[in-house]
Amino acid sequence: MAHFSHNVHEDIKKVLLTEEQIRKRVAELGAQISEDYAGKELVVIFVLKGASIFFADLIRSIVVPIRIDSIAAASYGNTTKSSGTVRIEKDIETPIEGKHVLLVEDIIDTGLTLSYLKAYFERQKPASLRVITLLDKPVARKVQLIPDYNGFTVGNEFVVGYGLDYAQRFRNLPYIAIPKDYVWNDEEKE
Ligand code: IMP
Repeated sequence: MAHFSHNVHEDIKKVLLTEEQIRKRVAELGAQISEDYAGKELVVIFVLKGASIFFADLIRSIVVPIRIDSIAAASYGNTTKSSGTVRIEKDIETPIEGKHVLLVEDIIDTGLTLSYLKAYFERQKPASLRVITLLDKPVARKVQLIPDYNGFTVGNEFVVGYGLDYAQRFRNLPYIAIPKDYVWNDEEKE
């Protein structure tokens, strides 16, 4: 039986990245993307559900014209280990052939999800395809994948907040953090 608090902040052991640090970095990334794609139009696709908050903040600091779409890929389920299998559960609706595409991810861990999605989109013949991730965990990589844009590099630890979950919890934290130890022992995972 889990002992979760009624307030999600109380289940947090350590804040890794504050709201202010994230806000500043997201604004920088938006400015960089606006410069790199000046004079072009962009299709910005985010990976559900984890990248939703990063995406919402990021696109508001991009000034070139964009269209948005989303894709859902089956990931870890409720454990912290990669299953290695990727399945598309919800596809994009926008035709991307001949378009400049930016794929927005929350975190790159083994790299399996993104390398699968990159290959999937490449087959649709976009004019260009780049990847942005809020967090990069390079030491956990199983396939070679270097993001075109990266917010922050983190160590090999499981982090939550700002869209990222553990067993579907903690997405609503406005910062990136590590939960208290008892959270990992929760037997009531969905
Ligand atoms: P990959 O295929 O191993 O790169 O896994 C990418 C996906 O795993 C991310 O989009 C997240 O949904 C999930 N993930 C990996 N590491 C973490 C973490 O530290 N916290 C929360 N989710 C994570």
